[in-house]
Amino acid sequence: MTAPVHHITHPLIQHKLTLMRQKDRSTNSFRRLLNEISMLMAYEVTRDMPTQMIEIETPLETMMAPVIDGKKTVFVSIMRAGAGFLDGMLNVVPGARIGHVGLYRDPKTLVAVEYYFKMPADMHERDAIVLDPMLATGNSAVAAVDRLKETRPKSIRFVCLLAAPEGLAHFRSAHPDVPVYTAAIDRQLDEHGYIVPGLGDAGDRLFGTK
Ligand code: URA
Repeated sequence: MTAPVHHITHPLIQHKLTLMRQKDRSTNSFRRLLNEISMLMAYEVTRDMPTQMIEIETPLETMMAPVIDGKKTVFVSIMRAGAGFLDGMLNVVPGARIGHVGLYRDPKTLVAVEYYFKMPADMHERDAIVLDPMLATGNSAVAAVDRLKETRPKSIRFVCLLAAPEGLAHFRSAHPDVPVYTAAIDRQLDEHGYIVPGLGDAGDRLFGTK
């Protein structure tokens, strides 16, 4: 069965995304908005996270109550823009581990080239949540998940802010078992591999490098 695409249409997320798209928004404001959105998206992404029952004492009596086993989650940030999602997600799941995948897009071919890959130990016990704000051609996302699957995590989810229809189709044909969470599916890619209408280069806007 093909895993679903979760299009997260919550008004708070949509409002903040509109602000992020505006070309005159400052780096500081762009970063803060992505941080807020990632916190809100974390609620959706972790909706069916496994819990375990532990015994606690309320002021009145002892009870069994559920807690999330946050240490079993690994956020996998696709460098560099994936870092913009990390703080917000960690606010919601502070016990999670973090992995990094470094990929750059060859500007001519748009093919993803790996330059860094570092995951925590015991990946087979972990649920992986892959973070990359822009699912454009899908090349980086497909390459990152290809590599991640070699470490055999228990499960994989992919989270982005914006997806292009082309990238979404590419990703889903390569990894039909991986659910995708996105706040928007934009119109198309342009000839340079940018999502339109989009929000420009997420890494540059996040880090102020342009
Ligand atoms: N990466 C970005 O940062 N923006 C796009 O539009 C496409 C890829």
